[in-house]
Parts: sequence; C-alpha cells; structure tokens
Amino acid sequence: MPFPTYWLRDNCPCTDCRDPRNGQKLFQITDLPADLAITAQHEQNGHLEVLWSDGHRSRYELARLAEPAAGDGRTEADKRLWEAADFTAGIPEADWDAYLGDPAERVAVLSAVRRSGFAVLRAVPAVDRQVLEVARTLGFVRETNYGELFDVRVEAAPNNLAFTSAVIAPHTDNPYRDPVPTLQLLHCLANSATGGDSGLVDGFRAAAILRAEAPEEFALLTRTPVPFVFRDRNTELRAERPLIEVDSLGRIREVRFNNRSIGTLRLPDPAAAQAFYAAYRRFAEITLRPELRLEFRLGPGDCLIFDNVRLLHARTAFEQDGSRHLQGCYADLDGLFSTLAVLERRGAALDAIAELFEGEGASEYLGEAVTMAEHMLQAGALAEAAGAPAHLVAAALLHDVGHFGGSGLDLMKGRDNRHSERGAEWLAQWFGPAVTEPIRLHVAAKRYLCAVEPGYRARLSEASEYTLGVQGGPMTEQQAAAFAARPGALDAVAVRRWDEEAKYADAGTPGFGHFRPLLAALMG
Ligand code: OGA
Ligand code: ZN
Ligand code: ZN
Repeated sequence: MPFPTYWLRDNCPCTDCRDPRNGQKLFQITDLPADLAITAQHEQNGHLEVLWSDGHRSRYELARLAEPAAGDGRTEADKRLWEAADFTAGIPEADWDAYLGDPAERVAVLSAVRRSGFAVLRAVPAVDRQVLEVARTLGFVRETNYGELFDVRVEAAPNNLAFTSAVIAPHTDNPYRDPVPTLQLLHCLANSATGGDSGLVDGFRAAAILRAEAPEEFALLTRTPVPFVFRDRNTELRAERPLIEVDSLGRIREVRFNNRSIGTLRLPDPAAAQAFYAAYRRFAEITLRPELRLEFRLGPGDCLIFDNVRLLHARTAFEQDGSRHLQGCYADLDGLFSTLAVLERRGAALDAIAELFEGEGASEYLGEAVTMAEHMLQAGALAEAAGAPAHLVAAALLHDVGHFGGSGLDLMKGRDNRHSERGAEWLAQWFGPAVTEPIRLHVAAKRYLCAVEPGYRARLSEASEYTLGVQGGPMTEQQAAAFAARPGALDAVAVRRWDEEAKYADAGTPGFGHFRPLLAALMG
C-alpha cells in the first residue's frame, strides 16, 4: 500500500521542512503544489527515498513511517477501567520520599493516575500548603475562585456543601467551569473524626456499563448539554456540557457529574426532559453500585491525586468529635502526562546508555589495557573520589560515548572521529551544557595541557600519544590562550586529567548502575 501523497510530504524530516533545533514544521500545507506527485522512489537499508514532482527530495526511516498512533492518553482506549475488587491487593501508592528521590517510583505513580485515574502518596508532610508542592512535582497548579488551594473542613457559613460535615455522593468537582480542572489533589492534614471515609468510582467504567445496559440512554447523555452553575457573593460560573463526553470516534473521554451544582435544564419539550431524567437517574444508580465503589480512609500525610474528568470522589458524613481537615488544589492532566512522558524518555535514555556500557563498551579496547566501559567508569569513579560536583562526575563518566557506534576504531586507523563533539551532541538531548561542554572540550583539553604543562605529554599512554597526532597535536600558544578563555575550559581540563588516569586494568570500579541516580538527577 503506497503512502498517501500529502501525508508523506507533510512528514518529510529534512531541515528545509523542519527546524532542526525544535522539529517544528517550516511550511504551510497550502505551500505544497496542488498537483503534488511522487516522481520516483527507492527503498534501501530501511529507508525510503522520494523524489517529488516539485523537485524536493525526502528521505524517511521506514520504521518511523510505520509507527502506530500514540494517542493523547485521555480516552477510555488508554485506560484500565476498574471496579473496587481490582484493588484487593492494594491501591496504587508510594512513599513521598521515594517518589521524590526515585524517578522509577515517580513514573509508577503518574502512570497509575494515567491508567487507573488515581494514586495515593503516603507520608507527605502534613503541613499547610504542602499540597501545592505535590502538585508542582507533576504539573501546574490551577488557581480558581477558591484560591490557589482550598480547605475542606467544617465552616460556619459554607459556600459549598463540601465545607460541612455532610455526606457527599460520588461527583466530579467544578463541572460549572470550562475548561474544567482535569486533575485534583486532596491532602489530608487531620482526620480524627468518626466517619469521613473516602470513596472513588471509575466514572468511565460507570459510563461503559450504561452503554452496555442502555445504549440509547448513554447516547442521550452524550448529546444533552447540561447547565452547571456555581454562585456565591463574588462568583457566578456556568458551563453547559454533557454528563458523558465522547470523542469524534465515540470513545468516552470525560465525565462530569455533580448533583449539587446541576442547574435547571430547559429542554425543548417535556418528552425530552422525561427521557433525559430517566437516563440521568440510571447513570446515577450505576455510580452508586457497591461493587464500583472503592473505599479507603485518608490519614494525616496521605495525598490523593486523581483524574477529575474520570473518577467520581465521595466521602461519608462525619461527626464533630474530632477534627477533619483536607487541603486540596487543582491541576491538569496535560501537565501530568508531559511530566510522565519526559520521565519515561529519560529512563529510556539511561537504559540506552547502560546498554552501551554493557554491550559495545565492554568489548572495545582502543589500544588500552582496559575496555571503553572500564575506562569511563574509572574516570567517573576518580571524579567522584575527588569530591567533584555531580555534573563533572557525569562528564567524566560519559566523556567517550562518542566513540560508540564503531567509530572508536576509525580513530585508531588515523581518522579523527570527532568523538568529543559527537558525544556532546548526542548527550545534549538529555543533559545541559554543564555536562556536555567538558565532554565537547576534552580532546581540546589534551591538546591544551600538552602545550602549557611541562611533562604532561610525556605521561600520555601510547594510544593517547598516537591519537594526539590525529587530533591536531599540541595547541599553539595562541590556540591555548583562546581555549583557556572558553567557558567550561577548567571543567574540561579536570575531566581530561581523570581521563588520563583511568587506564588501569582491574581497578575494581563500580558498575554503571552506581551512577544512574546521579545521571537521572542531572537530566533536564
Ligand atoms: C470536595 C470533596 C471530599 C472529602 O471538597 O469537593 O469532595 O473527602 N471533598 O471531604
Ligand atoms: Zn469534591
Ligand atoms: Zn577517555
């Protein structure tokens, strides 16, 4: 099956079509000729080369062209719909310190919010405003008429029934707002009252049950705009949206459900209103089925994070025999999904680097007594032992990654593989200049040190003396002065000294895993 013409051209990866710095497209769809056609095409080594009727040439990786659609993570297609029994082995939860310190733990928590709609962080310091700190680890706080955060506790003159001790049935928050906050956090500061337990219901599951049991009623709820209203002395918010929203392919995407703030429907005829209320009641009954409701109790330090356009949250009534105080705030799923995607991308990068150390790096020698991997691990360990800051430990550890991909052998054949630039550029996908610049300059630093430090050249290993020639020999006085003036020159010199020393066989250095947390912390 040939690729669709305009689709293929629209996805041309060349630097005339896309800005190489940010990947953004540089042309409009209307800039392409109306009669665009493929003049010639040719497949080779996993690539497709295309000559176009307007003279443009494109080169594609076939594997990239075949990638499946990623989706935005928001519809039922990307979720695991659940009922209470699915969590008999435990709910998604993590310790606050582990969540902060370990990217893998963070990925687990954020993935749970994406897939199951919620997670609980335990042992979050039970202090005022801490909920905002939690929100900032995963996205951006959404300020509303309630403020940056809201206190859920009994108030003398509540503007919302949430601020009483009454039972609250399963609901989503703020359906009277458009855009509605798609994420909510509730952080428990105190919960010593009798009652006040929490409940969660998967609104997507409830909607899917309605679709299976009463498809007409499901359809009616997806197409009836419902007015939601909130008003107090200073606020008047309205939004008209259906209780169940599906995307253009019919997949469930959002649920809004809140008996407290549903306004007066003005439907064209009584029969329509009758039908809506029958469907609304049936949906409400499904949300109350005991098997759907996951019950648990928040204690001080627990922070519940949940999808506010999917999960319905509830609480039981409580007595005033103790204190109950939650602090909540809103945020959005797009920010959380972005945080998750970046963490996953970084985890994959660390896996790829680890793979270099364990695979190719363990077998290449480049004329030294140690493998490439041992050499770099030794350099990292020397930097660490010298008490160097993390970015220099990382630079020392990674300084020769540019040799990978077989090009280290080029260097030994007398062809400069420019491995310092190649390595720095590859690493710049994930690391900032504090890590990449000393790597970029570590070859220049050798040429510099050989020029300015008496006796330095004599200490080079045989292989390093050989490559010095390939790389341009010692710097001239003028070159050395220019090098010393570059930002990061001192860091590059430090890395270079560890590089020179890191050539002992059997030095008993730690493995790559030892450095992984340090690298993870430096990414971004
Ligand atoms: C709310 C709410 C839950 C609780 O404030 O909207 O649902 O546990 N509170 O008090
Ligand atoms: Zn609520
Ligand atoms: Zn080296």
